[in-house]
Amino acid sequence: MIGRLNHVAIAVPDLAAAAAKYRDQLGAEVHSAHDLPEHGVTVVFVMLENTKIELMTPLGDNSPIAGFLEKNPSGGIHHLCFEVPDLMSAARTLTEAGARVLGDGKPRTGAHGLPVLFLHPKDFDGTLIELEEVKPDPQPA
Ligand code: CO
Repeated sequence: MIGRLNHVAIAVPDLAAAAAKYRDQLGAEVHSAHDLPEHGVTVVFVMLENTKIELMTPLGDNSPIAGFLEKNPSGGIHHLCFEVPDLMSAARTLTEAGARVLGDGKPRTGAHGLPVLFLHPKDFDGTLIELEEVKPDPQPA
């Protein structure tokens, strides 16, 4: 069901410092910071050849990652995001198998403007999983 690893998200206490490390020490292509007020985070995408790293830090008072950073003050891997071709069908298959979709179970718009869902980390070996609906590239004629 799942396709590509779309991104690995890392919660960081200092976004500028984290972005500089990926740019200057690791030599990666690092995009500029974007505020996502509806998600309570500011993100920087690090572009790799085969996937992306999403560096994120809390934005505003009720950030969903504030608690994570309290428990992991130096930062840490927050979630993995896998691509699926059909989010609702993936959610149905997963809930039928007993997995829990977070929130009200309805997709929301993720950091890339595409529909996403999150799966309960207790159902996936302690790892928060984001599914993002990405339509497969049309096959070349
Ligand atoms: Co994500």
